[in-house]
Amino acid sequence: MAELIPIILPEDIQEKVSCIARQISSDYQGKDLILVGMLKGAFIFLSDLARHISIPVQIDFMRVSSYGADISSSGNITLTHPIQIDVAGKHLLLVEDIVDTGRTLAWARDYFQCLNPASVHICAFIDKHERREVDVEVDYSCFSVSEGFLVGYGLDYAENYRELPGIYHLKI
Ligand code: IMP
Ligand code: MG
Repeated sequence: MAELIPIILPEDIQEKVSCIARQISSDYQGKDLILVGMLKGAFIFLSDLARHISIPVQIDFMRVSSYGADISSSGNITLTHPIQIDVAGKHLLLVEDIVDTGRTLAWARDYFQCLNPASVHICAFIDKHERREVDVEVDYSCFSVSEGFLVGYGLDYAENYRELPGIYHLKI
């Protein structure tokens, strides 16, 4: 039987999200910013983040697949849904639920860098830094954790638990 252990409370999430939204609003003041949400995991984080950002932004989503119903990254990434907005000359902020090995975001960063944006930076809700296998700089993150498989606030295990308002450690 799977066990869910609460590790981050909804109220702590809102405080951190509003804090990084303030930082992003200040860093991108006067610039054309596109928030690119990585589906599906980032949909809740992006919607909270966007509502706390105080400068005008454009929003789009992309989907890549690397994880199936498994809990470890295959590293084999394919683009299944590209964004629709033209990114040339615009500042991009890739918004992701969690960075684990770093393979997904390293791939996405390299993909966008070929499309001539003004800049590409990374905003991840959770940085699982000790599991990093490829070099990818996370410019903004709300929480840092060292281990464990996490669910809730958009993060899933085999498409379950995304709807939970807090973050839980899933023990199978
Ligand atoms: P990476 O390519 O190994 O960095 O994996 C990133 C993707 O793996 C994230 O976008 C998540 O979809 C998924 N992932 C990594 N760790 C977790 C976790 O603890 N819970 C849920 N999904 C995770
Ligand atoms: Mg994901």
